[in-house]
Amino acid sequence: MHATDVIAKKRDGGELSREEVEFFVQGYTQGDIPDYQAAAWLMAVYLQGMTDEETKYLTLAMAHSGDMLDLKDTVPFAVDKHSTGGVGDKVSLVVSPLVAACGMPVAKMTGRGLGFSGGTVDKLESIPGYRTDLSEAEFKAQLRRIGLVLTGQTAEFAPADGKLYALRDVTATVSSLPLIISSVMSKKLAAGADAMVLDVKTGKGAFMKTLEDAETLAEAMVRLGSEAGRRVVALISDMNQPLGWAIGNALEVREAINTLHEGGPADFREHCMVVAAEMLMMGGKASDTNAALTLAMETLSSGAAWRKFRELVEAQGGDVRCIEEPERLPKAQLIEPAPAPRSGYLAAIDAAYIGMAVMELGGGRKKKSDPIDRSVGVIVHYKVGDLVQKDTPLFTIHANDEGRLAEARELVLAAHSFSDTPVQRLPLFYRRVAE
Ligand code: URA
Repeated sequence: MHATDVIAKKRDGGELSREEVEFFVQGYTQGDIPDYQAAAWLMAVYLQGMTDEETKYLTLAMAHSGDMLDLKDTVPFAVDKHSTGGVGDKVSLVVSPLVAACGMPVAKMTGRGLGFSGGTVDKLESIPGYRTDLSEAEFKAQLRRIGLVLTGQTAEFAPADGKLYALRDVTATVSSLPLIISSVMSKKLAAGADAMVLDVKTGKGAFMKTLEDAETLAEAMVRLGSEAGRRVVALISDMNQPLGWAIGNALEVREAINTLHEGGPADFREHCMVVAAEMLMMGGKASDTNAALTLAMETLSSGAAWRKFRELVEAQGGDVRCIEEPERLPKAQLIEPAPAPRSGYLAAIDAAYIGMAVMELGGGRKKKSDPIDRSVGVIVHYKVGDLVQKDTPLFTIHANDEGRLAEARELVLAAHSFSDTPVQRLPLFYRRVAE
């Protein structure tokens, strides 16, 4: 079999066999197929799509490209969560320790930033020393010891996703249903959790722009997970405006820390409670939504979730002084508030523009090898529906370069639009999808 034949077949709209998909995934993972051929194949998949069968073969081939963790000998039951990618989405940083603090083991393999959307691995690496490359033995030992792991995919776990993810990020092939499904589910299957909550984002700052596409994505992932013997629930949530106030790696870690101390933005806190409640119900820690929400809120207010986060950072080698005193986290040199150009009700804050502004500041990657600046980002000060007064700070930019700051300011300003009449607030969630 030749890589060019597989690329051409997909380019021309053909349906790939299991053998062809496995050949391509294995060849690329092992380095026999170079980046340029993989990039051509990704674009062919992006343009032609894949059938359900091809998507399943791709997911399984990617999951099996490394070790498949079996956690049966480690904990009786483990839960996981994953977001399909958003702007200001730091939910995992709060929800994972919170659920683990309720005695429900959380085993999570997480990703880097992708396009304009941030990634938990990049956020966690804002904490000096924090390791996101745990080995299988370390993963299991830590899960057994503290009931919580938040690590990245490595050469050992779902390496095909690690390589394809980085290539998609820089070849405009991110927002493809089969590529997102296989990327998310390969990591989830390889990480071994028994049950998982998928936070499927929809809207301007999500890869799925319409509710219909988000539903297709959610339903496909729930189906795939169930076929693989896992319990999966998907929550379809809004990503038209950023979640919370902070967008940018270290800024988001700070906001997550505030939230773990019961502060933080109301929308973000509520979002975390709903996701945590779903995980707690799946793990049998609560029998209904009200009981699960009460348990989640109590665990946050008792400080147990914060203490578990601290334990996690310490276990993975992070400098705990940086989370105890978050002013020690990476900090930008230029911090500039931008005044509102007019008074009015905020009609929209286009999350994609905000994500692009953070990339412009150096907080995301344009090429695979780009280093990222973890200190930069944007803080928005209002949410859709809020009444804004002219000249009050509308948002604040954290930058390390005057030119980049000016470009980001234009983008963030363009993301905001106003109305003279009251505007309805956006919902946090649209739908729950389960088998
Ligand atoms: N999260 C992932 O892990 N992969 C994607 O493709 C999108 C979001």
